[in-house]
This record gives sequence, C-alpha cells and structure tokens, in this order.
Amino acid sequence: MEVFRIRGGETLEGSVKASGSKNAALPLFAAALLSPEESVLENVPNLSDIRFMAEILTELGAEIERLDQTTWKINPRSIVHYAPYELVRKMRASVCLLGPLTARLKRAEIPMPGGCVIGNRPIDLHLRAMERLGANVELKAGVIQVEASGLKGNSIFMGGRHGSTVTGTANAIMAATLAPGRTTIDSAACEPEITDLCRMLTSMGAKIEGIGSHMIEIEGVESLGGCRHSVIPDRIEAATYVLAAAITNGKILIRQARADHLGAFLNVMSDSGINVENVGNDLSVEACNGDLKSFEAITLPYPGFPTDLQAQTCALACRTNGLSILTERVYPSRFMHIPELLRMGAEISLEGTSAIIRGGKPLTGAPVMASDLRASAALILAGLAAEGETWVQRIYHLDRGYDSFERKLQALGAQVERLPESEMPKAFHSPSA
Ligand code: EPZ
Repeated sequence: MEVFRIRGGETLEGSVKASGSKNAALPLFAAALLSPEESVLENVPNLSDIRFMAEILTELGAEIERLDQTTWKINPRSIVHYAPYELVRKMRASVCLLGPLTARLKRAEIPMPGGCVIGNRPIDLHLRAMERLGANVELKAGVIQVEASGLKGNSIFMGGRHGSTVTGTANAIMAATLAPGRTTIDSAACEPEITDLCRMLTSMGAKIEGIGSHMIEIEGVESLGGCRHSVIPDRIEAATYVLAAAITNGKILIRQARADHLGAFLNVMSDSGINVENVGNDLSVEACNGDLKSFEAITLPYPGFPTDLQAQTCALACRTNGLSILTERVYPSRFMHIPELLRMGAEISLEGTSAIIRGGKPLTGAPVMASDLRASAALILAGLAAEGETWVQRIYHLDRGYDSFERKLQALGAQVERLPESEMPKAFHSPSA
C-alpha cells in the first residue's frame, strides 16, 4: 500500500484545474448502456472508480476504449443483464446499472451494493422506483432480480427519510426514458450531476422536462441513440482546493470550477472571511491572512451544503478562531475523520450528528489513517496546515475520487509525496495498517 508524506506550513499559490466530476461520470457510463449505439464521454476524470466502472461495463459485454487521458468510447451493442458480484460489491455507484439494464433489456440482476464506512446506504427508493414503473423486483441470495417486460410510465415519489436520493433519481430517470407513456418523478434529486445526466440523455433522444428541478417529467421513447458528451467539472474537487488555499492562508486560481454549483459552500467560506471570486469559469481564492472566523454548516441534499465537503470543512474549522459547528443531515455517522484529526491536536467533540470544533490551536503532524474518500482529503488538508510531518495511510481511498491530487498540490507549492508504506518511520507503523 502507499502513503502520503506531507510537510506542513507551505502557503499554496498558483493555479490548478478541476477534473471532470466523478459523481457525474459514473452514472453517465451507465447511461451509455441505454442505447446499442456508440457513445463518447469527454472530460472524464482519471480515477480508480472510473476504471472500475469501465471494467464492469466490459464484463456486461460492452466494448470500452480509452481514447486518451480523459476520453472514453463505449460501444454497448450487445450486453447481458447480469453484473458480476465480485466487481459490483466493491463500488456502490454500480447500483446505477439498475435503471439502464431494466430499461434496455427489460431485466437486470445486480448484486446488492456493498456497505460503506460513511453510514447506511439503503437502496429501497431505487427498488420502489423500478416497481412503480411496472417492474417485478425480488432479492434472492443477495442479488436484486428485476423483471420488467411490462415497463410503463407512472408517477414516482423519490423522497426518503434524508431527502432525495441522487443515484436513486438517476436510476428512475434512466429507466423512465424507455418506459412507454409519461413518468413524473417528484422530490427528485437536483444535484448538478443529475442535470448533467439529463443533458446527456436528451442528446441521446430522451424527452425530459424539469431538468434541474425537484419535479422531472419524462415521455418514454422507443429507443435512444449514441452521443458525445462532456462531463461537468467536479464541484467537490474544486471546493477541496478552495479549502486547501484557505487552510494554508494561500492565494490560488481554480480553473473549470463552477461557482453556480457551490452556492451553499461559498456562503460558508464567506462567513469565514475567505474571499472567493467567480472569474468566468474559474474561482479565485484568497485567504485573509490567517484571520479565519468560525462558522456553522448543516449538510443537506442540493442545493444545501454538500455532505461530501463536510469532512474537508471540519479540517478548515480547526484553523478558525472560535467554535464551529458542522451538522450531518445526510449521513449522520459520517465522522470517521474526527478521531484522526484529534491525533493531530484538533479539539473536536461529537454531539449527536454535530461536530463541534474549537479552532485556533495549531495542528501538529502525525501518522493518520484514511477511512474513506472524503476523510482522506480532510486529513491531507489538515497535514498541509500542521506543524511537522503528517503520514496519511490507505490513500487508495483518495485515488477513488481525486485525480492526481498530489501532483496538483505540488504544483501549488505543497510539500506532499506519495511513497511506499515501507518508507514510514518504523515508530509509526500501525499493526492494523
Ligand atoms: C451520491 O451517493 C454520491 N455518490 C455520494 O458521494 C454523496 O455523498 C451522496 O450522493 C449524497 O450527496 C455518487 O453519486 C456516486 P443518496 P448516493 O442515495 O446516491 C438515503 C462521494 O464521496 N437513501 O443520495 O448513493 C441514504 O441513506 C460519495 O463522492 C435512502 O434512504 O446517495 C442517504 O441518507 C459518497 N434510500 C441519503 O438518502 C435509498 O434508496 C442520500 O443518499 C437511497 C438513499
């Protein structure tokens, strides 16, 4: 396994480009299966999750060709309806195959997606959407079996206990594009990634109204064609670089960062005194000479504060003066990063689904363990600001969702290196690593 060694204290300066969005690209790969014709996806991020999804599509029978670093050609002329357990169980986003396979082949067999350290990841809303469209859904030996010879449009309510479901909405929309008749999806997720999916489906010939809203209306069509589609920039990656500038008192330009996708987050940055200017398709970030104010944020479905930025923003809160409060309304137990930040001298207490962070004291470098994708980013941000060396272990979590993270940080002046785990000082080796 590999580790990151970070020597803290550098002020980040310069410019960095956000890659394409992981959480847009994964459903878009699945959407390509809706047509037997070839599609090309551009601005695809270079991530292990993307390569994984390509492997799953290949197992389904699609011909996949990577044309260059960020362009993939998908030819799903002949595909089967069952996805391999060994692959599906490792990536939750593979649940997005449910809608396209059900719509195109009128049947699907998808192993239940794996668990996740960030909390319970049910798919009851996905399955209910398929049933509302006339499919028969059964769970047999851990495999979701869908039979949908009688697929037809219907009204679907996608709201759950914690608000809308993003990939559940993606599945419902994709299945409805080929369901004869009209489908209305109420309480649909309206994340930018869903809007991007609707744009790709429209270019394939789908008839979708209400794009970007919580009420989506779809007129089913006989078939869909192939397309060429460019993935939107990754708003979570872009915001992570905003936080990297803020936590190191730096000044950076983030290219291809859509401010209109980050409203709630940018409001919190403004509360903290961080100056973020939207310049065309770029974000210019200038910290405020270390005088960061404490802030409050509550994670909610879009357009609320993104849960995928909660861990990284906790790291920033350690650097503000006073008490900050971050409350999770989407994944109540998404706090695996807190014990690791405590190892770095952070003062944080967990009260129910809120993290209360007393900032102001400098962080100190330490060996820490990444537990999931966004926690990894949080620990790296903390390491950039900490005094001394921080060793982040299990960075394979990071590689799932951040394209060339260490190279982009190095270009901004950070002292971060990707090393084999054996390079860690012996005193640091944790037996369970
Ligand atoms: C997407 O996951 C993202 N992943 C997640 O990003 C993100 O954290 C999440 O949306 C919320 O924004 C991808 O898009 C690949 P949900 P998804 O279904 O769609 C409950 C990252 O770090 N729920 O929107 O799987 C669920 O328990 C990842 O990039 C049900 O109750 O999340 C949760 O509380 C992590 N029943 C809430 O909805 C269901 O059937 C949101 O989950 C489905 C979900």
